[in-house]
Amino acid sequence: MKFFIDTANLDQITEANDLGILDGVTTNPSLMAKEGISGEDNILKHYKKIAKLVDGDVSAEVISTDFKSMVAEGLKLADLADNIVVKVPMTKDGIKTISYLTEEGINTNCTLVFSAGQAILAAKAGATYLSPFVGRVDDINWDGIGLIKEIVKIYSIQGYMTEILAASIRSPLHIVQAAKAGADVVTCPLSSIMGLFNHPLTDSGLAKFLEDHGKLNKSK
Ligand code: G3P
Repeated sequence: MKFFIDTANLDQITEANDLGILDGVTTNPSLMAKEGISGEDNILKHYKKIAKLVDGDVSAEVISTDFKSMVAEGLKLADLADNIVVKVPMTKDGIKTISYLTEEGINTNCTLVFSAGQAILAAKAGATYLSPFVGRVDDINWDGIGLIKEIVKIYSIQGYMTEILAASIRSPLHIVQAAKAGADVVTCPLSSIMGLFNHPLTDSGLAKFLEDHGKLNKSK
């Protein structure tokens, strides 16, 4: 399973990348706004900065909602760097845009996906990635990981090549569950990635090792 970080924050991307485990980045308009990035020029410049920071794919989301404007915006985003993936919402115009950009050889990420039916449409359009929002499905007391399992099964039966990118991850447990469910990619906040390190027995075990070593190797 690939690890993407879900942020537009350059420091957090760098911190995750320095671990040597990062395969890519996803952003969305809310995450860009959180960094205070506004105005088309500044937004495009920021995507270029992110694309330079990592070797893997970087998802940059269109703001437009009509086909013609989405395509124009998507082509501009794709032009920024070879590793830019155009992120497009699961709408009629979004699917038309994904179909068009796929024909042009441009990688896409279909986002705001909440059902297996939507996942089938995205695969048919040739989306490179599919982003089912696990956390937001859980938020309404449905089963986010169950949705990932359902899509994994359908994609396997049908031989769809679209990569299932589990998004809206809220905890280290979601990462483990997404891996068990067969997601191809998980995109997480830095806190969830860092949370994977934490276990009290690791901490106490290391402390004991150092204590035992120290007893016999006091600086002479
Ligand atoms: O990439 C989608 C993700 O950023 C949404 O996460 O926590 O806002 O549901 P969240």
